[in-house]
Amino acid sequence: MSEAATAARPTKRIFETRQPFDLSDELRDRVHANDVADTVAQLEEDGYGYVRNASTPEFNARLRETILRVCFENAPDGKRDGAGGATMLLHKDPIFAEVILNPKLMTVAEVMCGKGAMISQIAASVRPKGSPAIGLHADQNWTPAPFPVHNQLVTFCWACDPFDEANGATKVVPKSHLKRRHPTEQETREEPGAVATETAPGSCVVWDGATWHSNYPRTTEGQRVVLHVTYSRLALRPVECYDFLDDEWLQGKPFELRVLLGREDFLNTREGAFYHGAKIQKTMDWAKC
Ligand SMILES: [Fe+2]
Repeated sequence: MSEAATAARPTKRIFETRQPFDLSDELRDRVHANDVADTVAQLEEDGYGYVRNASTPEFNARLRETILRVCFENAPDGKRDGAGGATMLLHKDPIFAEVILNPKLMTVAEVMCGKGAMISQIAASVRPKGSPAIGLHADQNWTPAPFPVHNQLVTFCWACDPFDEANGATKVVPKSHLKRRHPTEQETREEPGAVATETAPGSCVVWDGATWHSNYPRTTEGQRVVLHVTYSRLALRPVECYDFLDDEWLQGKPFELRVLLGREDFLNTREGAFYHGAKIQKTMDWAKC
């Protein structure tokens, strides 16, 4: 679809902002169709949840293999021991677009970050035995407290391997999102109420941008291979900049991918607002949905 054609799409001005978890009928239907109603309920109540069986075992195996290959290729010479990770993954293998367009993830992302949400980060981590914890934090670490009522970011941790405490799973503090602030130094040290997330390979743990989390040090043999996918509200600056992916790269790819890359809103463009016509209203409407 050309830029002119998408920009000309009619849009009806929206005056009222939907409050968190007040879903439109259309989005509620999509939540049920994609079997993520429990995920959304957990996110609302506890600040984290699970997307079980996000795809097939075959897809998960291909994703794990791809992550290991890409991490190896991107590691500096002499540091190719299997540990580490990689960022800026969208164009490094077609499987990463498949992940971020996964209907279950997209549906939860829209619930948590609104219409027109953008992809903020696609990063992989490979953690062998002995990998340390990263420390308690909320992902919306560039939003000052008190956090807005509306969630700013949502992160999915796609577990390519079994996730439990010994394997170095993510730890979360349930209901910490309700505090709407960053953890204090003491809370970061003591991690009150933290629990291990547990899931099978091919499922995701997902958490609210305000939820305090870290990970357990890995004590078992083998590697924990994870893809971290973060979406953000369209009003925020994403972590990763994919502006260099041009129209030729986007040719034939889904409209939804254009939205995730911010190509369907009027923000952060070289041309400025006036150039973008109907996209201006569309952006402000999406921000309220
Ligand atoms: Fe995090």
